[in-house]
Amino acid sequence: MAKIKFTIITLFKEALKPYPDVSMMWKAAEKGIAEFDFVNLRDFGLGPHKSVDDTPYGGGDGMLLRCEPVFAAIESVKAKDPFAEVILPTPAGRLWTQNYARELAGDTQQSHYIILCPHYEGYDERILTLVDHKISLGHYVLTGGELPALIIIDSVVRLLPGVLGGETSAQIESFSDETNSEIEFPQYTKPADFRGMKVPDVLLSGNHGEIAKWREAQKRPAED
Ligand code: ADE
Repeated sequence: MAKIKFTIITLFKEALKPYPDVSMMWKAAEKGIAEFDFVNLRDFGLGPHKSVDDTPYGGGDGMLLRCEPVFAAIESVKAKDPFAEVILPTPAGRLWTQNYARELAGDTQQSHYIILCPHYEGYDERILTLVDHKISLGHYVLTGGELPALIIIDSVVRLLPGVLGGETSAQIESFSDETNSEIEFPQYTKPADFRGMKVPDVLLSGNHGEIAKWREAQKRPAED
């Protein structure tokens, strides 16, 4: 098996599937570092309409994901890999950060994550009994878990050894502190002079010690 596997349980596989098929995610899969699998939640739906949601007890707007299809979908994956851990993207979860991504990427005990993508207005609370990681992508509300799933996968997979060219990009980031307050220094590529905007001389000097010092001094905090 690949170093890390993500099984994504979703109603919208068509929306998700193209992303891991390109660029770095594709490269990681080609190299056998990452594996992506999709489970259609609809396959576990109830009745002739394969229903996966229903109205909330006690009243209220919207529809909630029901337990039966979600439990059945997760159990079908766990039947093959009982140790897979379940991630639920939810605005009520732990905030996703670079350090959190490093935790998952560096967890040598765990190699298979099931990401359950909720939709509609939410999910039956009992679904949480299946969940190992509740993850929030930020203090805003999205319509579903698909975009968070892609962000989680991308930010973990790029940290795995062998995914990024030369290994250096992820290493550079390892200098960043707990809060990720200093993650970038300015970078330039050719041409050295573009419409009068010149690349700093030090970067053209070939003096690697000076370049490292300059980059350290230039690190800037993320904008709020
Ligand atoms: N689902 C809806 N909004 C979300 C958020 N901010 N983070 C994770 N999952 C979500």
